[in-house]
Amino acid sequence: MAIHAEAQERNDRLQALNPAILAALSPLGRRAFSPKGIPFQAIQSKGCRINATVGQITDGAGNPFPLAPLAEKLSALNPRDAFLYSPVGGREPVRKAWHAKHVKEDARMEAVALPMVTSGICHALSMGAELFFSPGDTLILPDLYWDNYEQIFQVGLEGRFKGFPFYNAHGTFNLEGLAEALAAEPGKAQVLLNFPSNPSGYSPTTGELAAIAEVLVEAARNRPLVVYCDDAYHGLVFDPDAATKSLFFELLERSPNLIPLKCDGITKELSFFGGRVGFLTFGTAREATAILMDKCMGLMRSRIGSPSSLSQLLTEIELADPRHEGEFERLRLLMAARYRALKTALARPTRNWKVFPFNAGCFCLLELRPGLDAEAIRQRLIHEESVGVVSQGDRYLRIAFCSMDEAAVVPLIQALDRVCEGS
Ligand SMILES: Cc1ncc(COP(=O)(O)O)c(C=O)c1O
Repeated sequence: MAIHAEAQERNDRLQALNPAILAALSPLGRRAFSPKGIPFQAIQSKGCRINATVGQITDGAGNPFPLAPLAEKLSALNPRDAFLYSPVGGREPVRKAWHAKHVKEDARMEAVALPMVTSGICHALSMGAELFFSPGDTLILPDLYWDNYEQIFQVGLEGRFKGFPFYNAHGTFNLEGLAEALAAEPGKAQVLLNFPSNPSGYSPTTGELAAIAEVLVEAARNRPLVVYCDDAYHGLVFDPDAATKSLFFELLERSPNLIPLKCDGITKELSFFGGRVGFLTFGTAREATAILMDKCMGLMRSRIGSPSSLSQLLTEIELADPRHEGEFERLRLLMAARYRALKTALARPTRNWKVFPFNAGCFCLLELRPGLDAEAIRQRLIHEESVGVVSQGDRYLRIAFCSMDEAAVVPLIQALDRVCEGS
């Protein structure tokens, strides 16, 4: 398909700035650009005496006409912010607040441009993937992964997975497996890493994180390497040895061939699951990032138009509140208590399963003994014990301790043991 002159102009600039990024783009990523259409023209007309650009109903002075039931519920909020369109790439205050949160966590983030707002983390991942992932491409990732990656990269984008065992023989992250998978993939490569992990609940130590970064930097020596950092569970860490920082920070300014993408959001970090505010942060140099964001805005407009203003506004309010950090810590401590209860309950010996090492996030993963079928056990747990867990593959069961009370931990493990014994 022919490339629009505007997209070509962006691609030419990328070629001059960093050819590895252009080489990494998918055909859609090369075609994408933000057109000089309605949102662009509306921004140019901002401040005009009469602004007849955007298709949103206002009083002519920039104020919306909210309907009474909504206006009553949202009366504490500025109606312009709550009811009118968000910019396509997201509201500047929320982008700045999220960026500032990262800078506070790690000064290396100062070099990074503001993130793009998405409609949830899944959307940040799929939009990043649309930019770089072509049909037939391979995604390298550990064998224990969130099932939705299959929908994004295989079903949606017609790619293949190259897995490697998540853990090594010592029960820590399988660095060698990652390095081997990368070595076996010639040319442009793409890796997805999710820490703390869904489903395993594992976060590497600080040392492991640095070693993973070394492997990725080395693998990017002679070719473009896109790294999708899925940080959905960022901050939910319960073991003092587990890294609280993102792998993304370790990848900044390490190599022009390395293209790190940070996908995160308010879903778990602000415990605002229905808010649907995610962020896509590019770990590339600022000028190149501006072009990638322009391309994303084209994709954004064609997919969802623009993100929800209201949820962004609420996110801004939460992040600006002096209670925010304390509130998150309260949540983390609640989760930590459940985590410890689960660790204790799972420490009791059983012949029925092995527990994968976990120290963070919302989940733990059990590998059932040979002869037990995970889906059959899951069904029996529902029908005989009124207990719901998730089966993954033939042998794994995932327990989401985020969604159960601490007092339910022991009854759940006892019920599971009963069902396994009787199977
Ligand atoms: C690993 C991982 N990434 C991304 C997401 C998606 O987050 P969101 O609900 O914001 O799209 C989830 C949600 O469960 C997840 O587990």
